[in-house]
Amino acid sequence: MTKSVFKEGFLWGGATAANQLEGAYLADGKGLSVADAMPGGKQRWQILAGENFDWSIDESKYIYPNHTGIDHYHRFKEDIALFAKMGFKCYRFSIAWARIFPQGDESTPNEAGLHFYDELIDECLKYDIEPVVTISHYEMPLNLAKNYGGWQNRQLIDFYEHFADVVLNRYYKKVKYWMTFNEINSPFELPALSMGMVKSNGGGNWQNIFQAWHHQFVASAKAVKIGHALKADLQIGCMIIYGTSYSYDANPVNQVATMIQNQEFNYFCADVQVRGQYPAYTTRMLEKYQVKPLAVKDDDLALIAENTVDYIGFSYYMSTAINETTTAEKVQGNILGGVKNPFLAASDWGWQIDPKGLRIALNELYNRYQKPLFIVENGLGAYDEVDENFYVADDYRIDYLRQHIIAMGEAVADGVDLMGYTPWGCIDLVSASTGEMSKRYGFIYVDKDDEGNGTLNRYEKKSFDWYRNVIATNGQKLD
Ligand code: BG6
Repeated sequence: MTKSVFKEGFLWGGATAANQLEGAYLADGKGLSVADAMPGGKQRWQILAGENFDWSIDESKYIYPNHTGIDHYHRFKEDIALFAKMGFKCYRFSIAWARIFPQGDESTPNEAGLHFYDELIDECLKYDIEPVVTISHYEMPLNLAKNYGGWQNRQLIDFYEHFADVVLNRYYKKVKYWMTFNEINSPFELPALSMGMVKSNGGGNWQNIFQAWHHQFVASAKAVKIGHALKADLQIGCMIIYGTSYSYDANPVNQVATMIQNQEFNYFCADVQVRGQYPAYTTRMLEKYQVKPLAVKDDDLALIAENTVDYIGFSYYMSTAINETTTAEKVQGNILGGVKNPFLAASDWGWQIDPKGLRIALNELYNRYQKPLFIVENGLGAYDEVDENFYVADDYRIDYLRQHIIAMGEAVADGVDLMGYTPWGCIDLVSASTGEMSKRYGFIYVDKDDEGNGTLNRYEKKSFDWYRNVIATNGQKLD
């Protein structure tokens, strides 16, 4: 066999987030998180973005799929064994902040919560699966959102620093790869998930959102500082959503709009976290959003400058087309949306499928930052149909992933330093945007429906075997 384009030790694996699969939402002292207050169903996004949403939980009105997830909390051994069977080299998961600090503002952590992640990490290591940990993935303690106003409040820096300090100290000997915040640029669309801010508590105001970002940049820098002091070679990354952006046509008006979209959405957060300073376009961008100069403390900028990230983790699901000059049909997406690109097909949820856009993303990011890249999310959310044996012939998912892996190979051949690839929702889990179970990404089918019915039994899909072969051949066997 010829040599793979992917480097030896390439981190093939899969990705999840605690709030979307663990369930057991009040077990062993865990407190409520923002995710626990998110109702299920297609209206979830609109409810969160609405004027009156105040993080109340109303079980008479809604169902809350995150409360039970896929019960990974009690079944993680079975799940990790399946990941090992696929040959995972790494597993990206997050730590539920509210398991460690149920209210977020305590001084003493919850030992039972820490113990759970001891066990999870040890289970990974048992199979030589490298844990990749997201410190905060859309699951801050609800108390910090409700009673402190989320990340617009500077006190959040201290609470996060304490949380990061506790988990880094506890696990740094066993966990080499970390990320500070999941999709830190997501608040452009919805600040509820990662900032704990909704319209009823300041989330409808750009001043507060940019202030919250500043606090997250400082907090992230503090986590990087703690981690590197513990062990100089810990790899601590940022994590952004990347949406390759195309001008709809050659009209310079749309080209400029695309440039600005790139700066604001794709690069702003990474520029700060990777380069250690606010980019040149910040002043103009803040003016555009009518944001007054941010409250910045004396040593904030030095902290940010001295504690930059080691790699760039990013999610890539789709590209977007920018059109400001004509009326064009709009499409949906996780955070991105945009106008319909006539050259692309879309998923069952309207996310435009664009593997070549991933090659572009990888080149753009690498040539901008010259830091290693890690694709920590990618995948196809689709309706799966099981046969009488609970088997899913998910050729559409295989095809999606194959095309994206081909694009990754092209980018590596272009000279990009790519560390690894962890497709999203390697086991079916609760969708972040819709709260549905029926929006499935996994190689492993979980028997649970949108209403919460099902045995929770796990079944290997056709893509399970396919991905096992991909990993075994270091990305060479894709058919
Ligand atoms: C990313 C998030 O935006 O996309 C995940 O980091 C999320 O938490 C994933 O699940 C897929 O989005 P969705 O809405 O299909 O679950």
